Amino acid sequence: MTTTLPLEPIETASRDELAALQLERLKWSLNHAYESSPVYRRKFDEAGVHPSEVQSLADLARFPFTTKKDLRDNYPFGMFAVPQERISRIHASSGTTGKPTVVAYTARDIDTWANLVARSVRAAGARRGDKVHVSYGYGLFTGGLGAHYGAERAGLTVIPFGGGQTEKQVQLIQDFRPDIIMVTPSYMLAIADEMERQGIDPATCSLRIGIFGAEPWTNDMRTAIENRMGITAVDIYGLSEVMGPGVASECAETKDGPTIWEDHFYPEIIDPETGEVLPDGEFGELVFTSLTKEALPIIRYRTRDLTRLLPGTARTMRRMEKITGRSDDMLIIRGVNVFPTQIEELLLKQPALAPHYQIILTKEGPMDVMTLNCEPCPEAAPDYGALDAARDALAYDIKALIGVTAQVNVLDVNGIERSVGKAKRVIDKRPK
Ligand code: DLL
Repeated sequence: MTTTLPLEPIETASRDELAALQLERLKWSLNHAYESSPVYRRKFDEAGVHPSEVQSLADLARFPFTTKKDLRDNYPFGMFAVPQERISRIHASSGTTGKPTVVAYTARDIDTWANLVARSVRAAGARRGDKVHVSYGYGLFTGGLGAHYGAERAGLTVIPFGGGQTEKQVQLIQDFRPDIIMVTPSYMLAIADEMERQGIDPATCSLRIGIFGAEPWTNDMRTAIENRMGITAVDIYGLSEVMGPGVASECAETKDGPTIWEDHFYPEIIDPETGEVLPDGEFGELVFTSLTKEALPIIRYRTRDLTRLLPGTARTMRRMEKITGRSDDMLIIRGVNVFPTQIEELLLKQPALAPHYQIILTKEGPMDVMTLNCEPCPEAAPDYGALDAARDALAYDIKALIGVTAQVNVLDVNGIERSVGKAKRVIDKRPK
């Protein structure tokens, strides 16, 4: 018989127990950063703070933020806090411009990471004997190897496919019959499309659970994927600078936003303009401090991800609301702030349209022009009347609910380029 896997005691400990552990670990982490990394030592000294002054978790707010720029300025290894011979692995995130952001792990860091992804996989409802198909990219990206080690640590069978070769992904899903898939939600859609192209109804495949992350996706997208695939879809969150996938992950029993694995990462929400710490429940920028990381302690890292902190439900740890977007992804179109996820929500209300989309921004004279390219659902493709109506309804909703005018184009089926990892939702052709 298949059974769910047991929780770790800390997942259901009291809030007080958790806070005590966090404080002890926070003191260690700040001290480690100060003693072992010249970059942190200089930053703390300049801010006039010292780890020995920390008496409570709130004292963390006196410490300076770390940003991607700190990592870039110290490229490649300048932020590492252990000698080279203690580093077991390096990952890097490509970024859109310039040098990659380089991160490092000791053997113990890799162990912690595997444990936290294992915890995430259990939270998703994994059972003993499950097979996990990993379609996150392997390599410098943290997705593939992060998922891989975690699923293995959870005692499951891993199928390390990686990204790409969509036809073959479908073949192996049919032949190996995995129970769980770990993949970006946008690439899940591409795999589902390929199944349909091959005459397979995605709902009949062996998958029971999808663990989706690495990019923003809405609750409407969750419903669309769940219905189409006949699975439970949960959200896994993470970023290379803080660890990789598994910083936070959703529990299948509540599906109410990722639970932050707060025994290893202390979250804060700040006002992105002023840097002031905001109370739980208020929207702002998510900031993380690592509590146990050795190779690359990360102190008050500004993620640029926008969300809010919510009380724990399925676990003691607090949750984060599903990410609406990154401050970098916010489009300003004729003065109106727009996140691609807002467009996604409205698009998914049109049953004749497929959930693939891309936003193109151009300029006509001084004016921003937003073009939204989308696609018909294959079943609706021949029905031009229905597609015209869907296009007009979507343009109307975008104007009425977001406040910007969009030129909506319904392309042919497969008209939008599929990515095998993170989807590229926006192409900004406006002159800088
Ligand atoms: O994307 C790590 C990861 C791999 C997470 C696989 C989940 C699954 P980076 O490439 O460094 O790391 O990108 C991190 O991706 O700051 C968010 O903006 C975004 N992101 C990651 N997970 C989610 C999510 C990996 N569940 C950046 N929802 C983060 C929304 C996400 N955005």
